[in-house]
Amino acid sequence: MARPRRAMNEIFMDMINERWRDMVPAKRRTSRPMHDAAEFDKFADEFEYRSMRAQNISASGESPDFFDEYKVKDAAVALQSSAGMPANILDFGSGVGNSVPYFRKYFPQSTLTCADVSSRCLDLCRTRYPGGERYAQIVGDALPFTDNAFDMAFSACVFHHIDQAAHAHWLAELNRVTAPGGTLFIFEHNPWNPLTVAAINSCPFDENARLIDARTFSRRIAAAGWIDVKARFRIFFPHILAKLRVLEPYLHTVPLGAQYYVTGRKAG
Ligand SMILES: C[S@@+](CC[C@H](N)C(=O)[O-])C[C@H]1O[C@@H](n2cnc3c(N)ncnc32)[C@H](O)[C@@H]1O
Repeated sequence: MARPRRAMNEIFMDMINERWRDMVPAKRRTSRPMHDAAEFDKFADEFEYRSMRAQNISASGESPDFFDEYKVKDAAVALQSSAGMPANILDFGSGVGNSVPYFRKYFPQSTLTCADVSSRCLDLCRTRYPGGERYAQIVGDALPFTDNAFDMAFSACVFHHIDQAAHAHWLAELNRVTAPGGTLFIFEHNPWNPLTVAAINSCPFDENARLIDARTFSRRIAAAGWIDVKARFRIFFPHILAKLRVLEPYLHTVPLGAQYYVTGRKAG
């Protein structure tokens, strides 16, 4: 039987990822099960996690807070001008809660549910940001929520930690728990940006990461049932060139930003 043809960019991404893996010393490489809570449990310690992140993004001249805030703010700005503000938000792969203060700031009327495979990350998140958020540990292969439970599913820098063979499954699960008309926002690192690849390469908690390009990921999101799927590239300029950031809205289709996000909508 003929093998399905693979898009050139998918083949090229595999080459980048394989090349990147070759640069990671073998002692730091581990094989990874499809769903590995322990991988992030071991990095949950707040000090270690935050200092590693700060080091990791130092080339941008920005703090981790800058990266955490812009994502939630982008989602708020996009929704204000289109679908309206969601009543219930899911933060899929919420980690130690870096987005929580920004959900409080930009979505003050919404109820936020933080979900993660790592119980240690969820515990730390609760301790860092005591308040009205809800928490759920993801155990097994289903999200622990009923159908249509959320108006917005949000995820920041999670899918590069999930086995690519499992992407379709989790994207379909996110679709299941989102209400008809609800929105998806997924932020990812852009493998076409050399500084991003260098930062990922030097970060211990990204040792098993596998970056995914925006085109392939958008196709995967559409195949999982989302409609109106669109990608936008973000963060083209380091802090030292921050004045040029006014140009960013005109550059969103140029696949060179440090990160990108994909939006989608659930039909209905
Ligand atoms: C790099 S951290 C990002 C955390 C947070 N979103 C942020 O922006 O700070 C990736 C998170 O994804 C979680 N994760 C990995 N695989 C997952 C899965 N299959 N389902 C949910 N969360 C997952 C990890 O436990 C970790 O907390």
